[in-house]
Amino acid sequence: MAHTLSTNKLIRSYFTQTREMFGDNLFVSIPQSESDDNPGLTLSEFEESISDCMNCDLWKDRTNFVFGVGNPQAKLVLVGEAPGKEEDLQGEPFVGRAGKLLDKILAAIDLTRDEVYICNILKSRPPENRTPHQDEIDACLPYLETQLKIINPKLIVALGATAAQTLLNVKTPLGKMRSQIWKWNDFNLIATYHPAALLRNSNWKRPTWEDFKWVRKILEK
Ligand code: URA
Repeated sequence: MAHTLSTNKLIRSYFTQTREMFGDNLFVSIPQSESDDNPGLTLSEFEESISDCMNCDLWKDRTNFVFGVGNPQAKLVLVGEAPGKEEDLQGEPFVGRAGKLLDKILAAIDLTRDEVYICNILKSRPPENRTPHQDEIDACLPYLETQLKIINPKLIVALGATAAQTLLNVKTPLGKMRSQIWKWNDFNLIATYHPAALLRNSNWKRPTWEDFKWVRKILEK
């Protein structure tokens, strides 16, 4: 009992001193394994911890927070731009027209969406599917970074200019970013056309097919 009393005294005097120095702010040091670099969380625990996010205004109009879908230990992660209308309604990325095409592209290299992991730069839908604003990207990107570090894939494929330019912090046109392996946080990354772009311009189908044949080769190595 005496020990408990003196321990309580010590704790009280520690907090009194801390309060004198720092006011009412409480400083807690987070062990490295729980920090963002090495979250120590499973993917679904991480999803649960952020799915009420209000870090930008997009939460106001969203139906669902679209975290990502697929194998949490996937070797291949595909990163798109942002959820569209269907994705917002269903809470899953790439389920609309572009998503159906993505499924076909994956099938052509013998993969299903359950074997890979699919996510976006933004987790909430921008109104009218407009291009993400920089403040929205800045708010959401740390989530993608943690998500990718938890999955730890062999290869990331950036689908379209927004994903590629955001992840690599460049303004290079997508056509010039293809056909090379980039490094993003020690991960290998390649950039190819967004499936929605292929629906608009079928000339990009052939180069995309070449890119995905290369993806298959990289995964087999
Ligand atoms: N386009 C994207 O970039 N992501 C989706 O989830 C759907 C369409």
